[in-house]
Amino acid sequence: MAHPNKAIVIYWGNTDDHLNIPSRTSLSMTLCGVNRKLDYTVTLKTAGDAQGDRVIIDGSEDKGGIRDDFVRHLNIMRHYTGFKQKLIVATKKTFPVGSGLAGSAAAASALAEAFAGLIDGGVDKRRVSIMARRGSGSAARSVFGGFVKLQTGADEESFGVQLWDEKHWDLCDLIAIVDPGMKKVKSREGMRLSKQTCPKKVYSNFVKMAQTHVEQAAKAVAIRDLEGLGKVYEADNMLFRAVCMNTKPPLDYWSSATEDVLAAVIRLRSEGVPAFAGTDAGPNVHILTGSRHAKKVIEKVKEVAGVNEVIHAIPGEGSRRLRKHLL
Ligand code: DP6
Repeated sequence: MAHPNKAIVIYWGNTDDHLNIPSRTSLSMTLCGVNRKLDYTVTLKTAGDAQGDRVIIDGSEDKGGIRDDFVRHLNIMRHYTGFKQKLIVATKKTFPVGSGLAGSAAAASALAEAFAGLIDGGVDKRRVSIMARRGSGSAARSVFGGFVKLQTGADEESFGVQLWDEKHWDLCDLIAIVDPGMKKVKSREGMRLSKQTCPKKVYSNFVKMAQTHVEQAAKAVAIRDLEGLGKVYEADNMLFRAVCMNTKPPLDYWSSATEDVLAAVIRLRSEGVPAFAGTDAGPNVHILTGSRHAKKVIEKVKEVAGVNEVIHAIPGEGSRRLRKHLL
């Protein structure tokens, strides 16, 4: 079982697309839902002498893209461990598909955790994180709770490192779920396009600034400095936005509601509320604020036309193994 995470310093682009080895270091907060659960459960069973893997989502078998993603990830894990058997994957998610929340990080870390449990109960978290990353880059971070850094490096060196656990700081991520303006390009495809087509100056500046941003963000988290963290979060996000918009064709993940929420956050700040906004590869806005400001921020953001829901999340736990199978 695992949770999604929100990048404060973003991962976008690989030095190796097959193994998802990131070009830049990233830092995130693993999420625990307050007003809605954000749990992704994956369990595995061996499938005897079956020819292929089967994927059962909420009780129904999937034969499309979701199955393909799981099978691709299972094949990589089988390749690296020598495990041969075909599997039955069963999944359950407490947040709806298409809600625009990064499900892939939670799914791939939950799958890696379940796989580690199947092959050997003793596999350590670092190895689970590497296994998760090979399925989805950001998943390496969801293996750990709280505030997590994903470092670059060779395949065996690129894993999540927990900087502080979920009890360190009651920082809130308020996620404004908005109507998408246009069809989303998947992260995997988007980051490949950015690397190929974004002007060198913009892209290499984005890669270069990661280290500084991670150091600044880590310092701010260490002393629970919301203003300091918010400043780095927004600066890193603007670099990410510049990379997306300079990609050919431009990756404009925002909708008009996204811009309206961003404007509402700036207004809140001018009224003295410390709230800081950024996005992902999608139109939803993630607002970082302190727990005592959450109610006010939610109220204001809900007034923005096009906002369907505001999910209130706080730092959550890392992935864990379950004893009971879903099937
Ligand atoms: C914008 O890890 O979701 O959320 O490997 O295609 O699953 P896949 O990519 P993914 O990309 C995450 C991109 C991001 C930023 C981040 O989480 O750091």
